[in-house]
Amino acid sequence: MDKLVIKGGKPLFGSVEISGAKNAAVAILPASILASSGVCNIDNIPNIEDVNCLERIIESLGCTVVRNSNSVMIDSTTLHNTDANTEDVRKMRASYYLIGALLSRFKKARVELPGGCPIGVRPIDQHIKGFEALGARVVINHGCVIVEADKLIGTNIFFDVVSVGATINVMLAATLAEGTTTLENVAKEPHVVDVANFLNSMGANVKGAGTDIIRITGVKELKGCTYSVIPDQIEAGTFMIAAAATKGKITIENVIPKHLESISAKLEEMGAEVTENGDSVTVSASGVLKGVNVKTQPYPGFPTDVQQPFSTLLCIAKGRSNVTESIWESRFKHVDELKKMGASIRVEDRTAMIDGVEKLTGAVVRATDLRAGAAMVVAGLIAEGTTEVLDIEHIDRGYPNIENKFKNLGADICRVSSGV
Ligand code: EPZ
Repeated sequence: MDKLVIKGGKPLFGSVEISGAKNAAVAILPASILASSGVCNIDNIPNIEDVNCLERIIESLGCTVVRNSNSVMIDSTTLHNTDANTEDVRKMRASYYLIGALLSRFKKARVELPGGCPIGVRPIDQHIKGFEALGARVVINHGCVIVEADKLIGTNIFFDVVSVGATINVMLAATLAEGTTTLENVAKEPHVVDVANFLNSMGANVKGAGTDIIRITGVKELKGCTYSVIPDQIEAGTFMIAAAATKGKITIENVIPKHLESISAKLEEMGAEVTENGDSVTVSASGVLKGVNVKTQPYPGFPTDVQQPFSTLLCIAKGRSNVTESIWESRFKHVDELKKMGASIRVEDRTAMIDGVEKLTGAVVRATDLRAGAAMVVAGLIAEGTTEVLDIEHIDRGYPNIENKFKNLGADICRVSSGV
């Protein structure tokens, strides 16, 4: 297994191009199988393992998938298999979007229960509530979700919790239903809006994405389209943090600054400088940054997916910072790894109390999950001496080409393959 070896302490300077959004791409790829005619040409696809995994899954269902650098062509007119049960399906979270997409188009699906990062319980009761409200019968048997419907009929659904996955999945299921479906208390994340835009490009009628209420009026058929995925809010946030943490200056290109506002605001509160300029943001910092309190919230609040790398930055900020994780109950696995590097953190229930220290020191640490991995890379970049980050397959699931992007900014970072 590969590891990242980082010699820390170098301020990062220059510019970095942000890739397409992972959490949009992993929903748009399954959504593409709704096309019963034409092909989908999707651009700005991030080169990450989760995308590779989904492409293999979609191929296993009978679609033709042709990948070319950052774009992919998907022909789902040949799709014949509604039973998704490969190792890849079990491995990743977003395979659950196949349930909504297959149910919508074929009125049936059998999909193995999804895996994903070990950050909390991750139930799918709200997805099931939505499918059932549309008229589907849902059974969980031997680790598989089995859904079937004679027909799907639009209805009103009020979600009990704000869920990205349930919002997107039920939106997919409702696109070909009879009549209008109203979803209330929905997630407003940029990737939810991106999936709605993609569906509309295929001929769907989805209105209100980005607000608390989404209305989907069923259409007879969805067709292939040409689409470009939005930039990744979380990858951008990670580089913004790295700029402040290393006391450098980085221009983060190909972003939608509006999506980054909660992160920009916290960095400014700490004393970093953030300037927006069209489709880029520049982040710089010098001198001592001060600790702040962070509470993760659904969009437009502070994203849970940025919490872990942001906590690394708070480790070297002056004073006490309280980080409250309100979305995932087990998203503090990076804390023990940061402590190996000299961080002073105490976790009580869902809050990490971080007392800023002068410096972190290099150590051998693990990427326990995707964003914990990003947290360890940022820690390695600021630490004195050498840090080895193990288990980086988690990082490869969601960050394209991470070591080269950091190397181009002046970091001393390299990937070492096992046995080398
Ligand atoms: C998505 O996960 C993202 N994953 C996660 O990103 C992200 O952390 C999360 O949304 C929140 O923004 C993908 O898009 C593939 P949720 P998802 O349904 O959809 C509870 C990353 O690092 N809930 O919005 O699985 C749940 O327990 C990953 O890129 C229910 O109770 O998250 C959680 O507390 C990790 N019942 C909250 O809602 C349900 O049926 C939000 O979960 C569904 C969710």
